[in-house]
Amino acid sequence: MKIAIGNDHAGTEYKNAIVTYLEAEGHEVINCGTNSDDSVDYPDFAHLVSEKVTNAKVDLGILLCGTGNGVAITANKYAKVRAGLAWTKEIAAIIKQHNNANILVIPARFTAEAQVLEMVETYLATDFEGGRHQRRIDKISC
Ligand code: RB5
Repeated sequence: MKIAIGNDHAGTEYKNAIVTYLEAEGHEVINCGTNSDDSVDYPDFAHLVSEKVTNAKVDLGILLCGTGNGVAITANKYAKVRAGLAWTKEIAAIIKQHNNANILVIPARFTAEAQVLEMVETYLATDFEGGRHQRRIDKISC
């Protein structure tokens, strides 16, 4: 799978762990940064990933910031993006099953690394259920 990943300074450490995991699993990863712990503005990185998802340059995206909310709010401004915030592997599964989320959002300051990798693994391994969930997704746009 081709996956774009982006983060602010709060997410750099976990982003690096995710990239290592994904590449070991054979995925192609586009790292949109940031790559340091220096303070940056989360929308800059959320836009880079959301544009790639919108233009089908990648299959899926992953975003991290401190709470996850800044990047999620930014990403969900894009009509074709459904960015789902997850903090357990169960939620990571449901954002795909029910919401067909095309971006997984991780609250880096409120999760542990093992949990993050579990969420990524679960999100990628889970399929959208369609049916009544597709009907609900069709009602999201405004
Ligand atoms: C950065 O301090 C923090 O505001 C950011 O990572 C994120 O939590 C914003 O929603």
